Amino acid sequence: MTDPHQVVVVTGASGGIGRAVARAFGARQARVALLARGERGLDAAAEDVTRAGGTALAVPADVADFPQVDAAASRVERELGPIDVWVNVAFTSVFAPFAEIGPDEFRRVTEVSYLGYVHGTMAALHRMQPRDRGTIVQVGSALAYRGIPLQSAYCGAKHAIQGFNEALRCELLHDGSHVRTTMVQMPAVNTPQFSWVRSKLPHQAQPVPPIYQPEVAARAVLHAADHPRRREYWVGGSTVGTLLANAVAPGILDRYLARTGYRAQQTGAEKPPDRPENLWSPADRGRDFGAHGRFDEQATPRSGQLWASRHHGVVAAAGGVLAATALAVWRRARA
Ligand SMILES: NC(=O)c1ccc[n+]([C@@H]2O[C@H](COP(=O)([O-])OP(=O)(O)OC[C@H]3O[C@@H](n4cnc5c(N)ncnc54)[C@H](OP(=O)(O)O)[C@@H]3O)[C@@H](O)[C@H]2O)c1
Repeated sequence: MTDPHQVVVVTGASGGIGRAVARAFGARQARVALLARGERGLDAAAEDVTRAGGTALAVPADVADFPQVDAAASRVERELGPIDVWVNVAFTSVFAPFAEIGPDEFRRVTEVSYLGYVHGTMAALHRMQPRDRGTIVQVGSALAYRGIPLQSAYCGAKHAIQGFNEALRCELLHDGSHVRTTMVQMPAVNTPQFSWVRSKLPHQAQPVPPIYQPEVAARAVLHAADHPRRREYWVGGSTVGTLLANAVAPGILDRYLARTGYRAQQTGAEKPPDRPENLWSPADRGRDFGAHGRFDEQATPRSGQLWASRHHGVVAAAGGVLAATALAVWRRARA
């Protein structure tokens, strides 16, 4: 039974998936610490959590800077209590062909999107290990296993998180630790990233359909936080399809993505010249971007695959009953 007043830290909580995750924990009365840089988004996220029934603590921090993350963790423990769950979500990217990304840009994406997760995990572990309890959830992506064009720095970071988390998981198992870590691989989600991530593309960036609403991602994260013994969760049929296809025929996928990946990641509309950017500083000046992006009309609020993944015992039992019934019918037909 999950403690309804858990202390939960969510990085990247000012917008997108992190915002939806924070709100969902708030709805079950958790004490939620919100880490991000943008104060407008953080204040609005804190209001969301409080309105949903939880307790909120907004802590401005840049996850690329370990001292800021560690100081944030200390403040959370001082003001809310021992951290039960730490969810790493914060990220940034540059949408561009690799040849058009400068070394400073690539480094910044890596420092936020990869090292940001390392920093969060370190700050959480330092506090959880002495207590021998706590859960760390890494929000990942189908792109943790499969690289796509125009997102080289991001794909590198997601692959790195996958490898780092796997190594950490082995160490925790080796030590017989009760601290858990699990990773949730997400599909395309309708979040503000497509409006504020630095882009050098001629047209507006878009998630590759099918697109899910951030609440689908949040449900998966809460389930993973409650059931962290499983090493990994895959969210959405598109994630399952991509990961299986990549395991079987990665070369065919290379060619498919080379043909379709540029077009599929852009709408027909030109990129506005005054588009905001969040690479070096927050983009939310004077505006709350919220959890949802611009794709509400195309995005689905449900995932049958997520339901099946969360209830895989029921699915396996139903599959067993179906198989047994089919076998019995086949035997009777032969008799
Ligand atoms: N959306 C998708 O299609 C999709 C698909 C697969 C996986 N994911 C994963 O889901 C996670 C969230 O994605 P999203 O689409 O929700 O992103 P998003 O809408 O761009 O939100 C990113 C969040 O990270 C924060 N952030 C950015 N740079 C930061 C920094 N240096 N320090 C602290 N916080 C920072 C942002 O707030 P501030 O700017 O205010 O700091 C914001 O709260 C990412 O890990 C991503 O890999 C997303």
